[in-house]
Amino acid sequence: MIATEKISIQKVSKSRLPEIDFSNIPFGKIYTDHMFLADYKEGEWQNFRIVPYGYMPISPATPALHYGQSIFEGMKAIKSKDGSAYVFRALDNWKRMNISAERMCMPYIPEELFMESLSALIELDRSWIPTAEGSSLYIRPFMYSADEYIGIRPSENFTFQIILCPVGSYYSTPVKVKIEKHYTRAVAGGTGFAKAGGNYGGAIYPAKMAQDKGYHQLVWTDGVEHKYIEESGTMNVMFVMDNTLITPALSDSILAGITRDSVLSLARHWGMKVEERRISVDELIAGLEKGIVTEAFGAGTAATIAHIELIGHEGKDYHLPPIEKREFSNRVYKELDAIKSGSQPDPFGWITKI
Ligand code: COI
Repeated sequence: MIATEKISIQKVSKSRLPEIDFSNIPFGKIYTDHMFLADYKEGEWQNFRIVPYGYMPISPATPALHYGQSIFEGMKAIKSKDGSAYVFRALDNWKRMNISAERMCMPYIPEELFMESLSALIELDRSWIPTAEGSSLYIRPFMYSADEYIGIRPSENFTFQIILCPVGSYYSTPVKVKIEKHYTRAVAGGTGFAKAGGNYGGAIYPAKMAQDKGYHQLVWTDGVEHKYIEESGTMNVMFVMDNTLITPALSDSILAGITRDSVLSLARHWGMKVEERRISVDELIAGLEKGIVTEAFGAGTAATIAHIELIGHEGKDYHLPPIEKREFSNRVYKELDAIKSGSQPDPFGWITKI
């Protein structure tokens, strides 16, 4: 347990903020003035500090670099009309980070450490929260092994860190996806449900092959038969088929997306029929051919609600209805945005005000 006063704060001598062009913010390239770090040593979290954002010394022998012993989270903060920062579903990210930590043999992060460090850092860099429509402050907590040892064993030393970046949209246009039936993202018993760095690193090559053919992302299928839809590169996938919201049921090869859960909660709250179940590629393609798949979208923190305009499968592209006709995904996008910024009530208690 930490108390905020135990966090040492070393502020920058000159903020980089005036140099930033907020009218054109790319995703993930601009970082705020400060970052938070804590060390796990001798069985406890210690040395809580906020320092200027910058490069860090790291042992060349750390298992984080050699064996990918690293996990991360993604959250967003929005500046509300009263100037406070509203962080969306921080406690759910904290819980998921600990699920990832357990799978990757890393230490538990206490709620106080996660929430207090987050609040202290956002408090300090609050003026970096962009205000343009669709923009937000992306929060990236991460943890990695900090041992100096290249044998394989559970590590003893770790670093927990948080960096912040003002971001615009992750996908600037509706996305084109390709159903992947050769490469595999995750299998039963693997690390697919954890937000482990390696899950993403291993997906870059298959995704690049699809990108070379004009798609933005892959839709992964199960690693055994490549028959069932799993998730997309940076998000969960959802479809409106026959007026029902359908998404793959969670399993140990699918990330339990927090935006996914938010969309499902809103849909149920609105009385929409919702199904979390297996969706076969054949069922999806048949639905696209019959025209009963009226909406397809990705749901993720970075991606928010990303409309899918086209699905490629075995050399054929299936086009979906125009974005303006997508009643559910447009409504859910607007409602989530309104809850996140505090301009609509928060019936689910998702917001932490800083
Ligand atoms: C997020 O949506 O926050 C993610 O972690 C996706 C990321 C790999 C860009």
